[in-house]
Amino acid sequence: MSDWSIRLARPGDADALPAVEMAAGTLFATLPDLAEFAGNHAISAERHRKLIARGHCLVALAQDAPIGFVATQPFQRELHVWEVSVHPDFQQRGIGATLMRACMIDARNAGFVALTLTTFRDVPWNGPFYEQIGFEEVTALDAHPRLAAELAEEADNGMPADRRIAMIKFLD
Ligand SMILES: CC(C)(COP(=O)(O)OP(=O)(O)OC[C@H]1O[C@@H](n2cnc3c(N)ncnc32)[C@H](O)[C@@H]1OP(=O)(O)O)[C@@H](O)C(=O)NCCC(=O)NCCS
Repeated sequence: MSDWSIRLARPGDADALPAVEMAAGTLFATLPDLAEFAGNHAISAERHRKLIARGHCLVALAQDAPIGFVATQPFQRELHVWEVSVHPDFQQRGIGATLMRACMIDARNAGFVALTLTTFRDVPWNGPFYEQIGFEEVTALDAHPRLAAELAEEADNGMPADRRIAMIKFLD
């Protein structure tokens, strides 16, 4: 039996989530060219509370404490994944993939037609991870102005535009 579980996020989880994201982000320190992004940003607890109120955020728990989460926001009939993070003490045990698969099931049941996100194309736990669970790159960005705008904003904020991609998972 695993020592962790997942469930829908509750407002009371929000305060614990920024620390999980900051710790998870230290994984980027293993990549010299992206080390500057290692644990330097997290969604605020206040924003988590707003996202959680929309009803499609999930947390992973161990001993009743959050150790991972997926934070999402509805955009019409698409559900956008702002972040998925798993604390380093619990990484590479299938928790990230389970959170994403549960998110797909919840989104499909709620009537969304797709999950979307932006990520690094070539970081093993980013683009290739999402591809492994059924996401594909959005190449026709002119047909997805919301995702194009998100990539443009990331570039304005100093992210390396040539390494960032938008991805989509259609929910059939
Ligand atoms: C992305 C993240 C949530 C995955 O969580 P996780 O619980 O470790 O993931 P899983 O154990 O389910 O692994 C899923 C796949 O991701 C890839 N992966 C995960 N960690 C990896 C690592 N350290 N190195 C290489 N590949 C990795 C593998 O392809 C893995 O599949 P496999 O087990 O069949 O090899 C976690 O790595 C994390 O928090 N990273 C920092 C934050 C981040 O980059 N979030 C995504 C933003 S777009």
